[in-house]
Amino acid sequence: MTSHDPAAPRVHPLFGPNKLKLGVFGMNGSGTVMTKHPDRHTPSWAYTSQLGQMIDQAGFEAIVPYSRWHAFGDAHHFSGQVLDPFVWAGALGATTSNPSVFSTVHTTTTHPIVAAKQGATIDDISNGRFTLNVVCGWFMPEMEMFGGDFDPDRRYDHAEEWITIIKKLWTEPDGFDFDGEFFQLKDAMLAPKPASSPMPPIMNAGSSGRGRDFAAKHADVAFIMIPDPSPEAVSAQVKSYKEYAREKYGRDIQVWAHSLVIQREDAAAGRAAFDYYTDTHGDHEAIDLFASFQIQNHAQTAPEILRAVREAAAGGGGVHLFGNAQDIADRLTMLSDAGVDGVLTTFVDFESGLREFNETVLPLLEQRGLRGPAPEFIGTAAGRATEQASA
Ligand SMILES: Cc1cc2nc3c(=O)[nH]c(=O)nc-3n(C[C@H](O)[C@H](O)[C@H](O)COP(=O)(O)O)c2cc1C
Repeated sequence: MTSHDPAAPRVHPLFGPNKLKLGVFGMNGSGTVMTKHPDRHTPSWAYTSQLGQMIDQAGFEAIVPYSRWHAFGDAHHFSGQVLDPFVWAGALGATTSNPSVFSTVHTTTTHPIVAAKQGATIDDISNGRFTLNVVCGWFMPEMEMFGGDFDPDRRYDHAEEWITIIKKLWTEPDGFDFDGEFFQLKDAMLAPKPASSPMPPIMNAGSSGRGRDFAAKHADVAFIMIPDPSPEAVSAQVKSYKEYAREKYGRDIQVWAHSLVIQREDAAAGRAAFDYYTDTHGDHEAIDLFASFQIQNHAQTAPEILRAVREAAAGGGGVHLFGNAQDIADRLTMLSDAGVDGVLTTFVDFESGLREFNETVLPLLEQRGLRGPAPEFIGTAAGRATEQASA
């Protein structure tokens, strides 16, 4: 028996052939929409593993969990219900065949040796489909929850050492010492190495100047927030990001966006549904809390900016894909034409949303040459292991 199935995909899903790559975000928690409506997503392995099957069979490239430790409210608030991203990614790695299984990790809460070991293990479980989403923390109550001395101004200095250690552990054959400002390691080593060569891809979604620089230097996939979704503005934003990475670090990186999909008969009905979930049934306390971290001083902020920030907070901040299948495919086509390499989708109700999207939007993207048909479903890693064991 070989340690890796030769039938398994050798190209990491993030580097596959589709011009516009797709992923799903936030299923390990309560999604991204701040609503009290019962349609809201509730995470459990029993349910999200079924969604994982739908995503796998539709040929998506990525399943991305978020990392959150503290609710946007008290201990009873639904936003605190979050399954551990590493454990969840490992289970998805064993039960899916096609997508990259991401884990999201806070550099400030997890030692790099532990994260490197967990990532390498998930890369083995998933036959080389792991990706590490590195986040440095922004929500103070969450960072304070761990005690310690979180310094928002130094988090990317800390992350610089953190990611350097991860990369060395994943690639250097021998043990090494590390003498940094934040980490001092003696004879640090890691085995087995990840299945992916030279190492699993790294994702980062920093949006400050320093965050953007970190992504350009270290990430294979950078996530951008899109403040102005006009084609010209998106195109200029993506171009400047890619040029920055190429010119400063000689690196070609993918740029992805994230989105909220609400599929209805037209864009106005999609918009009305958004208002229904986030206004009529909105979780206004959580929205205000979230928004207050985006804007330092509410009192002096113009009402229209405050409205825009609250709206972004309510929906999770992504591009709105509202309307019928044609509207959604048009908007995705626009993003692709503007140079966006991939889009993470999220839904209020993932099951019905994904089903409709897979049945009606994916065929349009295929017709437009943005995506090929879903790869042949070759069975799950866990299923293959059982077959091999009984052969
Ligand atoms: C798609 C996406 C996923 C993110 N996931 C997380 C997450 O799981 N946990 C977290 O604390 N922050 C997350 N963030 C926030 C970013 O890591 C980052 O902190 C934020 O964009 C602010 O940028 P800055 O760190 O450069 O200030 C995410 C952002 C995006 C766009």
